Amino acid sequence: MSKKAIPFMLTAGLVLGSAPAVTFADPPPPNEQADHAFDNKVIKKISAERLYERVDLLSKHPREAGTQGEYEAVQYIKSEFESYGYETEVQPFTFQAWDGGTSTISDNGSEFAGAVHTFNGSVNGTVEAPLEYVGLASAEEVPDTVSGKIALIERGEISFYEKIQNVIDKGAVGVIMFNREGTEGNDFGSTYEGQDIPAVAIDRESGLSLVNQLQSEEVTAEVSVQDAGPIDQTSYNVIATMKPHKNKDTGQIVTVGAHHDSVAGGPGANDDASGVSGVLELAKIMAKTPTDTELRFMTFGAEEKGLLGSYHYVSTLKDDEINRIAAHFQMDMIGSRDSGDLIMFTPDGEKNLVTDLGASAGARVAEVVEYGQLGRSDHVPFYMEGIPAALFIHAPLEPWYHSPQDTLDKISKEKLKETTEIVGAAVYRIARPDTPALENARVAPGPVHYEFDDRPL
Ligand code: BES
Ligand code: ZN
Repeated sequence: MSKKAIPFMLTAGLVLGSAPAVTFADPPPPNEQADHAFDNKVIKKISAERLYERVDLLSKHPREAGTQGEYEAVQYIKSEFESYGYETEVQPFTFQAWDGGTSTISDNGSEFAGAVHTFNGSVNGTVEAPLEYVGLASAEEVPDTVSGKIALIERGEISFYEKIQNVIDKGAVGVIMFNREGTEGNDFGSTYEGQDIPAVAIDRESGLSLVNQLQSEEVTAEVSVQDAGPIDQTSYNVIATMKPHKNKDTGQIVTVGAHHDSVAGGPGANDDASGVSGVLELAKIMAKTPTDTELRFMTFGAEEKGLLGSYHYVSTLKDDEINRIAAHFQMDMIGSRDSGDLIMFTPDGEKNLVTDLGASAGARVAEVVEYGQLGRSDHVPFYMEGIPAALFIHAPLEPWYHSPQDTLDKISKEKLKETTEIVGAAVYRIARPDTPALENARVAPGPVHYEFDDRPL
């Protein structure tokens, strides 16, 4: 979608030029003191301690969308926004989740004592048949002898879809899968349309003990899945709005977001309690800072279920609002001590107003921030509406991503603070009331050169 020519583009145009993106071969000589002073009103107020404390509070429990953990996080975020003086909306939306019902397995008549997890999408039913171990269940590995049997499969290397299809193709009637080496738990697995056999997951230790048992005796297993099926669940977005100064309203809106949900069983300290804490910190500071721009600070639910909260939020916007949103800044995973440098990702790998602002803010606060191409977070629905949007994240990723080890002790106060400062400086630059006169301001920061970076994730 192309954006209409509206007044705020003039404002932004004066700062950065709407196109082409900044193309200096060499950056102008830095005037660090003056450049720093330009951002002081915002960045001097950012507190590493407060940032860290909020991650602590949020990451005590998992916050999977639709659970009590998410609900409590939402109440906390709402009350924080309100305590800073924001008009705050909690926006519910429903999504389809999977209820695993009750699944059990038994071997040679004795019921398995450990936890059994139903694969997402598994059919209901009970099958009793000989058990056969088929390794990782690659097409070459699965023997014809699995026909009419329950396949015992190790997770890893190829997709769930392929594994299940390979054993179905050879006539298996049920699946027990165990977790891969070095991983805990049993909370994994999906079947897909047409894969109509009961499928369950167990932890690695239990799986290996079945493999062992099969070496000394034949095992007849029973796999039973009851009452599994899709259910409607509710997740929430939290949106805090600050109107601009009445006499200086340019009509433009800037949005700053993070997602408050985590994956199941993960405390999500970095993914994305860190980003939520950054959003709250900037909201706290900007509440007392006059702007000519409406600011909307928001945290999304159900990002981990497919960016559902941000898609929902964008779907509630009127055309007029979409046209007035000049920039969306997304903070996701901004505080890991074990990740690489900050990078800005856009879904199309192109620079935009947000990356221009971010690169230049980075140069003033710490160092120039490079950009790259990636979706995978809540900047995508904004991008799809033609809104300049970017994801602020560190890459390469930390090894704790989406694991129960994504905990507070892996969080770096410095990384939290520096990233929040960079995003804060970028937001303030576009929202400050003196922006139109920026070219004439003595401390106006110059454009910077920044590059495409395809570093690995
Ligand atoms: N924070 C991640 C996105 C991410 C992961 C960005 C790794 C860069 C590197 C996010 O919370 C996430 O996990 N997203 C999902 C998106 C999906 C559910 C649409 C993902 O990437 O699997
Ligand atoms: Zn995330």
